[in-house]
Amino acid sequence: MSVENVAPSSGCSTAVTIFSVFGIVFTLLKAKSLAQFLYNNYLAKGTKLTVYGAKQGAWAVVTGATDGIGKEYAIQLATSGFNIVLVSRTQEKLTALAQELETVAKIQTRTIALDYSKANKVSFEKVTEELKDLPITVLINNVGQSHVMPTSFEETPETEMDNIMHINCFGTLHTTKAILPIMTEQRRKDKKGPRCLILTMGSFAGLIPSPYLSTYAGSKAFLSNWSASMAEEVKPEGIDVWCYNSYLVVSSMSKIRRPNFTTPTPKAFVREALGSINVQRGGSAPYISQPYPSHAIMSWSLEELLGSVKYLVVNQVAAMHLDVRKRALKKQARIQQSVSTQTSV
Ligand SMILES: NC(=O)c1ccc[n+]([C@@H]2O[C@H](COP(=O)([O-])OP(=O)(O)OC[C@H]3O[C@@H](n4cnc5c(N)ncnc54)[C@H](OP(=O)(O)O)[C@@H]3O)[C@@H](O)[C@H]2O)c1
Ligand SMILES: *[C@@H]1O[C@H](CO)[C@@H](O)[C@H](O)[C@H]1NC(C)=O
Ligand SMILES: *[C@@H]1O[C@H](CO)[C@@H](O)[C@H](O)[C@H]1NC(C)=O
Repeated sequence: MSVENVAPSSGCSTAVTIFSVFGIVFTLLKAKSLAQFLYNNYLAKGTKLTVYGAKQGAWAVVTGATDGIGKEYAIQLATSGFNIVLVSRTQEKLTALAQELETVAKIQTRTIALDYSKANKVSFEKVTEELKDLPITVLINNVGQSHVMPTSFEETPETEMDNIMHINCFGTLHTTKAILPIMTEQRRKDKKGPRCLILTMGSFAGLIPSPYLSTYAGSKAFLSNWSASMAEEVKPEGIDVWCYNSYLVVSSMSKIRRPNFTTPTPKAFVREALGSINVQRGGSAPYISQPYPSHAIMSWSLEELLGSVKYLVVNQVAAMHLDVRKRALKKQARIQQSVSTQTSV
């Protein structure tokens, strides 16, 4: 065979080889990602709460602790053996929950009534003062506010916009700034003591553009980026930091009352959240997890399978939020009408 005869077919077979190699590598990477996803979602065991000092006198701080997801964090951490600091707006709700936890779980509690929409430097100095003597090992940054209903950015009332940023971002930063030094000091004094944990509630709104919830989405994207960045800084100190993104959960914020496969109760959500500490579920973004398994399926699919059609997904999210808005406006009109008929009777 002459060289001239061989050259073209070898060029062609080189191309085929290159494509095959790419194909195999691509398939292997996807297969690895799928295997990792399935393992983390259904088999991997999270770090036990005793590693963070449960049943050893350690304290956990929960913000937005009197309702929904925050209340469940407080209950499940208390029954696991943490003393609890409850932070939220309404003192009566705080006192009632504190008493319930002390009786049911035989733990100690403290309460801090703080309206995060109005909190300033002085409020956080008071928080620091109140907490400085407690061996705090767990912080749950749960407090958060969303829009009253999906609304375009143009029509978002300025007070709503400011409150969302103030509560979700400013509040979370300053709460963490008050508590992180307590954690690092303990860790530096006693390397064999309990590890520390900071969990921050993110949202799918921070994972993918969320039209008609733009300010909320921005606040949650901020939290996940901040949290993941800080996580790497404090890991060598023995402090584990995760942002937990959630899709819908039954609560007064989501205004959903019945749970289903994709919308768990706060109790079921928090059981998965506290049961999968340091297990990354539903994606590969560092220090970010979607702890509820059906949510993890959604975020993994978004990352691995829907990458090329993200515009379509954003378009679907917009349609969903516009539908929620339409129903919310109808409900508002119904309520206004019944109020006006009552007052006119
Ligand atoms: N529910 C969902 O579908 C969902 C989805 C993804 C992410 N998340 C996130 O999960 C977190 C908890 O949501 P949730 O649905 O459990 O909310 P929720 O049921 O509305 O509970 C909010 C809690 O925060 C407190 N709170 C509200 N505004 C406050 C303020 N200005 N200052 C201090 N405390 C305040 C409330 O207590 P008071 O009324 O006594 O102040 C209550 O304890 C939020 O960060 C949210 O963004 C929720
Ligand atoms: C943080 O923001 C950068 C820049 O937009 C982005 O590339 C990165 O994925 C974000 N990280 C997280 C953890 O959200
Ligand atoms: C679960 O409930 C939510 C909220 O009511 C709804 O949007 C969703 O379609 C439901 N999902 C399933 C799987 O039934």
